[in-house]
Amino acid sequence: MFFEIVNDSPVSLNADCLVIGLEADGKLTPTATAVDQASNGHLSQLIKMGDLTGKSGEQQMLFNLPGIASPRVLVVGLGKSDERKDRHFRKLIKGLDTLLTKLACKHVVLALDGLASEHQDVYRQTRLLVEWISTDFYQYDTTKSKKAEPTRIEQLSIYLEDSLTELGESALLDGVAISNGINAARELGNLPGNICTPTYLANKAKALESEFDTLKVKILEEDDMDKLGMHSLLSVGRGSAEPSKLIVIKYLGGDKNDAPHVLVGKGITFDTGGISLKPGAGMDEMKFDMCGAASVLGTIEAAAEMQLPLNIIAIVAAAENMPGSKATKPGDVVTTLSGQTVEILNTDAEGRLVLCDALTYAERFKPASVIDVATLTGACIIALGHQASGLLSNNDSLAENLLKAGDYASDRAWPLPLWDEYQELLDSNFADMANIGGRSAGTITAACFLSRFTKAYPWAHLDIAGVAWNSNGKEKGATGRCVPLLCQYLIDLAESIDMPEHDHH
Ligand code: BES
Ligand code: MN
Ligand code: ZN
Repeated sequence: MFFEIVNDSPVSLNADCLVIGLEADGKLTPTATAVDQASNGHLSQLIKMGDLTGKSGEQQMLFNLPGIASPRVLVVGLGKSDERKDRHFRKLIKGLDTLLTKLACKHVVLALDGLASEHQDVYRQTRLLVEWISTDFYQYDTTKSKKAEPTRIEQLSIYLEDSLTELGESALLDGVAISNGINAARELGNLPGNICTPTYLANKAKALESEFDTLKVKILEEDDMDKLGMHSLLSVGRGSAEPSKLIVIKYLGGDKNDAPHVLVGKGITFDTGGISLKPGAGMDEMKFDMCGAASVLGTIEAAAEMQLPLNIIAIVAAAENMPGSKATKPGDVVTTLSGQTVEILNTDAEGRLVLCDALTYAERFKPASVIDVATLTGACIIALGHQASGLLSNNDSLAENLLKAGDYASDRAWPLPLWDEYQELLDSNFADMANIGGRSAGTITAACFLSRFTKAYPWAHLDIAGVAWNSNGKEKGATGRCVPLLCQYLIDLAESIDMPEHDHH
C-alpha cells in the first residue's frame, strides 16, 4: 500500500472514496463544510433528516454526491470532542478498514482534519493512521496452501493543509517504518515452531544485515556460548535437537563514541515447559514465546529504516525449551555468565534463564540503557490483562520515558514495584538463587531474578505475556507489541540529541 500526503482540496480530488469526519450533533468539520458547500447542502440535509448524527462509531456511505470528484464519500462519526479517546480513534480506523476490504476501492483519500483523536497532534495522528491501516491489512498466509486475496486498496492519500505537509510526511515515513517492524514481528510470531527455530531467527537477522548497510550481525553458537560460560542460557536448549543461538545485531546510526541502547529479546521458539511440562490445552500458543525477540528484531529494523541517529544493539536469546534425556531437571544447578549460580527448581521458568546471560553479555557494550522484552510470566496476564505490558526497572527516569513512549505510541505499559523486600523469595539452599519465587508476585519475582544481572546499567524489563498475541478465534495471532513503544522510546532519544537538521515534532 502506498501512502502520501496531499494538499489539494478533497472535494476536487478524484479518488475511489473520500473519507470525511462529522462531529457530534452534526457539527461539520472543515472538510465536511467544504463537501456540504460543493454539494449544495447535501450533508446538512441528511443531518436535518437525522441520517447523519456524527455519533462516535457512525459510518455512512454516500454515492455520487453532486460537486464531489470522488464517487463515494464515507462519513464517519467523530463524537463529542471532549469525550474523544484513542480507543474511539482505533475503532474508527478498524471500522474503516473492515469496510474497505469489502469495497472495490483502490484509491482512498482520508480527510479527518486532525479531529479523530483526543490529542491535537498532527504528527501523532498521521503516524497512527498509517500504522493502524498498514497493520489492519496484514494477513498471515505463509503456511496456507490457499494464499490470501491481495488487498484491493493500493493508494491512501492523507489530506493535510499546506503548512502541515512536512510534519505529515515525517509522520508518514515513521509510520511506514514502524508498521513494517510491527508486521515483521507478527510474521515471526505467527510462524509455527517447526519453522521458526533459533536457527531461523538467526537467518532472519542475517537477512536484515544484507538489507541494511547500517546493520552488523554476529551469531554466537552453542560452542561460543559454552566458552564464554553462558551455562544458564545453554541449560534451556539442552533437551532440544535445535541448537540455541545468541543473536547480536548492531545498528550504528549515531556517533562512534555514543553509548548504545541495548534491546534484549526472549526468543524461546517453543516453550513446552521442559521437564516441568506444561499442560496440553492451548500449548500451541507457546510458539509465541519468541515474541519478545520478534519485537526487538522488528524495532531495530524500523530504527534502521528511520535512520535514527543512535547506536542500538539488539540481542536475541534464542532456544527451544523441550523435555528430553539431556534436558535440564528440577534441582539442577547452573553457573551463569555472571558467575552467580542458579538452582533451576522449575524448568518452565526458562525465559529468565536465557535472558540473564544475554543481560550479562550486554555489559560489554557499556550501554546507555538496556531494555529486555519477554513473554515472561502468566502472572502478568493476571495482573494487567491484555491491555498493558508490565514494566519493571532499576531506573526511574528510564521507566518514566518508557511509560510516556507507550502512551504516545498507543502501546501502553504499566509499572510494577521491584522492591528489595521481594528478593528473598528467590533464596535457595543449594545455589546463589532459585529460578522461581513461589506462587505470589510472579511477575515481580521474575524481574527480581533479572535485576541481579543488570546492576551495571540503567535497565527496564517489559513483560509482554498479556499483549504479544491474541488468542481469540479469527483474531488469533501475534500483535507486534511492543514495537510501537520501543520505536517511540528511540525516536524520543533521537529527538533529545541536539541536531540542527533534525525536525522536532
Ligand atoms: N512463556 C511462559 C509465560 C507465559 C505463559 C506467557 C502463558 C504467556 C502465556 C513462561 O516461560 C512460563 O512458563 N512462566 C511460568 C513461570 C513459573 C514457572 C514461575 C508461568 O508463568 O507459569
Ligand atoms: Mn516457560
Ligand atoms: Zn516461556
